[in-house]
Amino acid sequence: MTVPPLVDERAGTAIHIRDLAKQFASSGATISALESVDLDIQLGEFLCVVGPSGCGKTTLLNILGGLEPASRGTVDFAPQAPGRPLRSIIFQEQGVYPWLSVLDIAAFGLMARGVPKVERYRVAREWLRRIGLGSFEQAYPHQLSGGMRQRVNIARAFANDPEILLMDEPFAALDEQTKLILQDRLLQIWEGSRKTVLFITHSLDEAIRLADRVVVMTARPGRIKTIINVDLPRPRHVFALQGSADFARLRGLAWEALAEEVLAVQAREEEALSNA
Ligand SMILES: Nc1ncnc2c1ncn2[C@@H]1O[C@H](COP(=O)(O)OP(=O)(O)O)[C@@H](O)[C@H]1O
Ligand SMILES: [Mg+2]
Repeated sequence: MTVPPLVDERAGTAIHIRDLAKQFASSGATISALESVDLDIQLGEFLCVVGPSGCGKTTLLNILGGLEPASRGTVDFAPQAPGRPLRSIIFQEQGVYPWLSVLDIAAFGLMARGVPKVERYRVAREWLRRIGLGSFEQAYPHQLSGGMRQRVNIARAFANDPEILLMDEPFAALDEQTKLILQDRLLQIWEGSRKTVLFITHSLDEAIRLADRVVVMTARPGRIKTIINVDLPRPRHVFALQGSADFARLRGLAWEALAEEVLAVQAREEEALSNA
């Protein structure tokens, strides 16, 4: 079966990253978190980044999100449409505003941009419906499960209609079943919008289910070790992928690259312990 190219090279580049590096000063020492990262993220691409813990994934996302300056290198974004925000960020365990209703949280970005009430509620309701929270718009965060709260965050990010969505392990704190359901929902709503997404995860399975391409990073300092093209057809359904031979093949490829890096981290930790 031939699969059409999932990343449309003609669509252009959404984020152009060159020679990106980041060092942190930490109690007298310098920690090199990222080194020589070159990457082009295509417009409309779903890109996942995996790598051993501490390899600089969050640092990369924070730099792209404008939360942290780079030590070296450049990040260029494609010009954004007037009136639309450049990026929205979803974190792992995000405090949603406890005093706001689900509807107001979903409409928050639009309110901050001065969108009139009727319009922002219309848009927010639509995204809540798509993520399966249509009947919870009057609820407050404390009445929701962790998975539901992350869905509110996803609705808020999509409603805000950014050029780029940055997600840092948004499902990491959820149980396995909830995770699968949310991955499926995310795919459905993303496929209807085709936003450029950078999604960080430590789960290879999650990365392959969602991504057009998976970037595997090395142990710290994080560099790009390899990029795997995920040529699984879309629309995808995470439950159907589980038994697929293509899925298993891609997971094998990605694991081969990642395992080396995870082992490198372990060896480093063991050495540090034996020297302690
Ligand atoms: N603000 C900071 N100050 C000092 N070191 C930091 C800071 N943020 C991250 N680091 C270090 O940089 C490395 C990469 O961190 P991070 O990007 O959070 O990794 P990941 O998200 O891949 O687990 C880690 O060694 C971490 O301890
Ligand atoms: Mg992280």
